[in-house]
Amino acid sequence: MSNPSSFDRSIKIAPSILAADFANFGQEIEAVEAQGADWIHVDVMDGHFVPNITFGPDMCKAIRPHIKTIMDVHLMIAPVDPYIDAFAEAGADFITAHLEAGPHIHRTLQAIRGAGAKAGLALNPGTPVEGIGSLLDMVDLVCIMTVNPGFGGQKFIQSQIEKVRTLRSMIGDRPIHIEIDGGVDPTTAPLVTAAGADVLVAGSAVFKGGSVRNPAPYGDNIAAIRAATKGAL
Ligand code: DX5
Ligand code: ZN
Repeated sequence: MSNPSSFDRSIKIAPSILAADFANFGQEIEAVEAQGADWIHVDVMDGHFVPNITFGPDMCKAIRPHIKTIMDVHLMIAPVDPYIDAFAEAGADFITAHLEAGPHIHRTLQAIRGAGAKAGLALNPGTPVEGIGSLLDMVDLVCIMTVNPGFGGQKFIQSQIEKVRTLRSMIGDRPIHIEIDGGVDPTTAPLVTAAGADVLVAGSAVFKGGSVRNPAPYGDNIAAIRAATKGAL
């Protein structure tokens, strides 16, 4: 386990490439990193666990050389276990699996760390956080979904803020990131950082108005989210 004193709880903005140009991921990633992104969030969907399909480990491997920061892979797939090694080999820094994706989340989290990646645990909006206490020593990140997973551009679900606050007190001094995914923008970001979140995934709120040829709006959008959280922690 990493040293808690060196753990970085500062606010990190993680643009989701779900909102980028699917024909141009490499340049989109380079553009958004140049404009201030801290991590790159990669949404993997299987059309089974969630009602949408995106891409798999080969795509992750192809975009990995374009990522200078952190590759944060969010698996919205079931089953998870048969694919963990492939995503680790593709270069994922964090691999996040859903609690709801199968009956053996403990084994899944062990397998993620065993494959050499940091382990993330995601919770759907309908899943209570109180039951994950026995898993906290096995994770590097907990992702609280603030939309139902499957699509970008959905409305932030306010009732999840209390879960973030509860999770923050459950975590105590452990070096575990609290990530928020869904509907994050300058209005909702300060609500979750005040409750204890440090990683903010944002798709539409980062990519809106920009493109690889006109990337300045990406920077303005990231700066607006970051500014909104100032003083919140
Ligand atoms: C939803 C994904 C999110 C999504 C967020 O299933 O996990 O990462 O891209 O998109 P926005 O920020 O547009 O809600
Ligand atoms: Zn996601």
